[in-house]
Amino acid sequence: MADIREKSNAVETSNAQIAVHWREEEYFYPSPKFIGQANLTDPAVTERFSEEHFPECFKEYADMLSWDQYWHTTLDTNDPPFWKWFVGGKLNACYNCVDRHLDEYKNKAALIFVPEPEREPVVSVTYQELYVRVNELAALLRDFAGLKTGDRVTIHMPMIPELPVTMLACARLGVIHSVVFGGFSGEACGRRIADSGSRILITADSYYRNGKLMDHKANAEIALEVAQQEGQAVDKVLVWKRHRGQYGSATPMVPGRDFFLDEELLKFSGELVEPVSMDAEAPLFLMYTSGSTGKPKGCQHRTGGYLAYVAGTSKYLQDIHPTDVYWCMADIGWITGHSYIVYGPLSLAATSVLYEGVPTFPDAGRVWRIAERLDVNIFHTSPTAIRMLRKSGPDEPKKYNYHFKHMTTVGEPIEPEVWRWYHDTVGKGEAVIVDTWWQTENGGFLCTTKPAIDPMKPGSAGPGAPGIYPTIFDEDNQEVTAGSGKAGNICIRNPWPGIMQTIWGDRDRFVEQYYRKYCKDPKSKDWHDWPYFAADGAVLAADGYLRILGRVDDVINVAGHRLGTKEIESACLTLPEIAEAAVVPVVDEIKGRVPEVYVSLAPGVKASPEIADKVTKTIETIIGKIARPKRVHIVPDMPKTRSGKLMRRVLAAISNNLSTGDITTLANPDVVESVREMVQGKGAVAVKDGPDDLKQFGGVD
Ligand code: WT7
Repeated sequence: MADIREKSNAVETSNAQIAVHWREEEYFYPSPKFIGQANLTDPAVTERFSEEHFPECFKEYADMLSWDQYWHTTLDTNDPPFWKWFVGGKLNACYNCVDRHLDEYKNKAALIFVPEPEREPVVSVTYQELYVRVNELAALLRDFAGLKTGDRVTIHMPMIPELPVTMLACARLGVIHSVVFGGFSGEACGRRIADSGSRILITADSYYRNGKLMDHKANAEIALEVAQQEGQAVDKVLVWKRHRGQYGSATPMVPGRDFFLDEELLKFSGELVEPVSMDAEAPLFLMYTSGSTGKPKGCQHRTGGYLAYVAGTSKYLQDIHPTDVYWCMADIGWITGHSYIVYGPLSLAATSVLYEGVPTFPDAGRVWRIAERLDVNIFHTSPTAIRMLRKSGPDEPKKYNYHFKHMTTVGEPIEPEVWRWYHDTVGKGEAVIVDTWWQTENGGFLCTTKPAIDPMKPGSAGPGAPGIYPTIFDEDNQEVTAGSGKAGNICIRNPWPGIMQTIWGDRDRFVEQYYRKYCKDPKSKDWHDWPYFAADGAVLAADGYLRILGRVDDVINVAGHRLGTKEIESACLTLPEIAEAAVVPVVDEIKGRVPEVYVSLAPGVKASPEIADKVTKTIETIIGKIARPKRVHIVPDMPKTRSGKLMRRVLAAISNNLSTGDITTLANPDVVESVREMVQGKGAVAVKDGPDDLKQFGGVD
């Protein structure tokens, strides 16, 4: 396990720079119109969710759900840091997202699916239709696929309505779903199948991306092979068709193993399945994410606490009412989609929009056309998407007659300038904005403004969400005072219902990764002694607003998605031609950061453009296109310390045209100069100052 302490050292050293280039931004205020209709307007919420009322304050969220059996203990801290929430309670997540809305809303759209091709009609799925489809599929999963409560199922699907249907059918049975982002490669999917121990894979034949029908089923073949190599056999592959009755993949179906769901479901027509009453602490799903080692970790989320937390934050912070048309443009294959396309909005009987494709397809007006046509009034996206839309059509939003009351930005820091475009042009000056900071591990928002109560500040996430007490620790375990301008490691002092239960199958790694660093007493059963370490650098302003600076570990945030540098490096090292590999983040105007690869070659191998290509292709095959490097540099040697450690920080500086700092202590300072010349060109002048995550990247290794 990489030493987190070592890795995050450099946050502190860049304090001075932060103070210099961080200007305090002005406040923006929500409109009276927004406040007039908002779910959460009473400032007493801060008092209700204050430490004095913790943990009972979270009863307010849990009471938004329908429980089969009420809990007896709100928070059990007997086995820290494995907190238990709403202990003794029983409920079913699918029942809460579907069945309980039927009386009042059966005719209302639960999901609105917007296909990428504009010639295809928009598809609405009412709560009644969702109920029928989820029941039929649950019956099939139980009786045909043989799945039972506690089993894991891997779902590798694109953004089609069958994806939430599949998740909810699993939840109905208490089957733990593990959704793998559709853009991940077959290999990446296979490794997740193996880690989760799934014997069923649910996939789809095809989907549209940028105008092309992609063959998705092809991934299943590779996934099964990789899972098999890792010792996990898959019995059945269940395949949804993108166009009912029409197979859109060139990959053959394997008789006896592969089954078309549209055909098999005919046998379960009209069947109803009683939702299984689950313990609040029963796992609901796994979501794999990258960390500082080569192996992605399966974040295990619980049923009761998770659902309560996403329902509460969707209602109060997303301001979702059943009458709203809510569009979160994330992919359901990421945690944002799980919490804020599926479970949060549906638990509140909202109408949740699903868009299949690329935001700028076929032109820069597409997103705003969808918003106008469906009369979307809550919009949720990432800074990468906002930057992309701004670049491709800065005036497009003005051409369309839509009105957002509320907008979210999530996943990466947003530049104040980009925030202002989002506010003025996309939001037409009318929409309130929440900048929500959180992570796959967290289940739901951790830092954000309360939209009708707190003013907004461009570039800052805001204070802790209700019942969340963030703080910043320095490397000496001291809390950094608000307004000091000093950066440090953002931590959450308390447990909350949305926090993951553990890393699937790896309790030690869970403790090591998130709690070891700032634990005050490993024997203590008092939650006060167990702050959660998020691995992000942040600054806390005098007003209590947090500005997130970025990861302090070996994780690169590409377009709001996490990629582990170690994962990409291991992918490169599978090629016999490669002796060493180092992956660093490089600034990208749209995506925030993208990976750049340095490789040195095995003896006797000659550098060539073909080798660089091969490296790129290998990364795409093993991880997915999302990890495609901006450039691959073949270098004669890597900069190293005298003890032989690879200096990724120096390479990150070179890639970003920053000054490499003091390199005289390196074993081979001359290598740095030749690599620099190779990458930046002769006579290039490096810039002294740059983004903080780059300066601290790779720590002191
Ligand atoms: C990392 C988590 C769950 C959100 C989607 C990404 C960065 C997230 C913000 C924000 C600045 C942010 C952090 C965090 N991040 N939200 N509002 N401002 N940075 O989830 O893939 O688990 O990534 O995304 O660095 O650690 P994820």
